[in-house]
Amino acid sequence: MKEDPSKRPSEDIVSDTAKKAKVDADGKSDPILAKTHAYGKLILFGEHFVVYKVPALVGAVSAYTDCSIKVEDAGEKELADGSDTGVIEIVDNRPAVPNYKTKKAEEGKKAIDLVLNHFKIFGKGKKATLTFGGNLCCASGIGASAAQVVALARAVKETLPQFSELTDDEINTAGYEGEKGYHGTPSGIDNTAATFGGLLKFQRTDGDPIFEKKAIKEPIRIVYASTGITSSTTEVVGDVRAKKEADPAWFDDLLKKYCDLAEKGEKALENGDITELGNLLNENHKLLQDLTVSCKELDTLVDAARKAGAIGAKMSGTGRGGLMLALTPTEESQNAVAAALEKIAPQVWKTSFQ
Ligand code: MEV
Repeated sequence: MKEDPSKRPSEDIVSDTAKKAKVDADGKSDPILAKTHAYGKLILFGEHFVVYKVPALVGAVSAYTDCSIKVEDAGEKELADGSDTGVIEIVDNRPAVPNYKTKKAEEGKKAIDLVLNHFKIFGKGKKATLTFGGNLCCASGIGASAAQVVALARAVKETLPQFSELTDDEINTAGYEGEKGYHGTPSGIDNTAATFGGLLKFQRTDGDPIFEKKAIKEPIRIVYASTGITSSTTEVVGDVRAKKEADPAWFDDLLKKYCDLAEKGEKALENGDITELGNLLNENHKLLQDLTVSCKELDTLVDAARKAGAIGAKMSGTGRGGLMLALTPTEESQNAVAAALEKIAPQVWKTSFQ
């Protein structure tokens, strides 16, 4: 599937601590680096349920991770180490919420190795320095892990002549392999949004995933905010699976309700019915509470957004920490909701899907 640049989301506005984080503007000036952009994402409908092969709706944000690769011959000292593999140095300049990078360091290393192994590159005698940057602030829920591995796959294409013909579908496949390092059994929704951008309907299947770009009538304004808590997708997805296995009837009931909501959500999007979309997002948050993946910090932000005028609000992504999003129909309500959330959330951003 080819990306339609006109459907890329408009620029995110980053506030509070994220604003103070270093924003790498090189992507705009360096044409090679710009080709490695991979986007963050926000799930409107489908976190957790999407793992069980039902449709989900996800929007890419405009903030991105980029990646550059420098390849050299390994020095004598490194060769003398006796290792069969090349030397990989990772320079991580991505902005991030506090603790994110420390908590995700091991998984990140595994994810990068999976992408390099997928391409079978940088064997013995080679040293590769991978530098990650961009303006996507890494936080649980925003798809930072997928953006990182997709940016790496794009950098492989831009740097190594033998991969110069990689298609976006092949980049996405490499991103999916990398995502396994961050969370063992990813649905593929995050890497697909990171690769293709735009607003997507996504469904995991037993084979390749099915996904399509959704056209929308009017840009959809969103505020999103972090709880500042970094959660483990592997753990939360694993816990949901354990609960499902312990009580299949309970899970089936939630799944059925979710499918009904997601179908209505897709129709509301197609009809440009923002009020209905807001109501459905609220209902979706309730289902995610019932699924036990929300938490008091997320619920507090969701309530505050609604009080400040959001027409719908829900947690987004893994949950038990991470992010929430709020649907704000006008610029005024977007500003009002962002201002209310800035008083209680460590990081707040504004974006729009178009
Ligand atoms: C994480 O962004 C979304 C989850 O549904 C996991 C997945 O789909 O792989 C929680």
